[in-house]
Amino acid sequence: MATIYTETVRSVRHWTETLFSFTASRDPGFRFLNGQFTMIGLQVEGRPLLRAYSMCSANHEEQLEFFSIKVPDGPLTSRLQSLAPGDQILVGAKATGTLIQDNLHPGERLYLLGTGTGLAPFVSIIKDPETYERFAQVVLVHGCREVAELAYGEQVVESLREDEFLGEYVRAQLLYYPTATREAFRNTGRITTLMESGKLQEDLGIAPLDKAVDRVMLCGSPGMLTDLHAFLRGRGFEEGNHSEPGHFVIEKAFVEK
Ligand code: A2P
Repeated sequence: MATIYTETVRSVRHWTETLFSFTASRDPGFRFLNGQFTMIGLQVEGRPLLRAYSMCSANHEEQLEFFSIKVPDGPLTSRLQSLAPGDQILVGAKATGTLIQDNLHPGERLYLLGTGTGLAPFVSIIKDPETYERFAQVVLVHGCREVAELAYGEQVVESLREDEFLGEYVRAQLLYYPTATREAFRNTGRITTLMESGKLQEDLGIAPLDKAVDRVMLCGSPGMLTDLHAFLRGRGFEEGNHSEPGHFVIEKAFVEK
């Protein structure tokens, strides 16, 4: 069995000067759980150059999708950003990650809290019909500095609301809350502040955070993860993992330094 598949890029969309998404073919043998990541990359000077990327595509989809930053001097992203349809990429066959539903205790409301490209695994999760079977409500919060950085998420949610199969669930159960921290927008402020003050729940018209019914997945910058981890622990939430489910799970966004 292949450990690394070679796939063909099908489409590329640039959202801002620092963010782009792309789709690629998917080997029928590539299996993953929604919310997981794998190593992807390019052949550079005869060797594979790979970084961890969460799949934005759901595991029922025929093609793969990824959401990436562009780091001007990043070894991989400086090259990936010039991808064009027809180019080849490498996709590691072994997906892994903690943002999976079995790592959480059953609950009623699932919070998906992401900053920047930390949105990626949640795109896969909100496309998963099982998410809507397990949770009565799903709250997707995406925090970015600028409004333009929210565009990919907005487009994904909009198209899911219109989706022939999932649209009904998404319209009834998914609450989407994009927020900008450095520009005027309909929602502003850091996710931490919105959670601590309860403004998020107030704006969405839902009950205050409650360990008895709420489950949380976090993916984003290290600072955001540290702060939200402390906040949730302070509220009595316990972190889950593969051996022991909990009230919340964490994955860092894979930013190239
Ligand atoms: P802010 O603009 O207030 O720094 P970055 O581009 O640095 O990865 O940040 C992405 C988003 O995450 C920004 O909206 C940023 O807000 C926010 N952010 C950064 N650090 C934290 C943190 N410790 N808690 C919550 N949000 C954070």
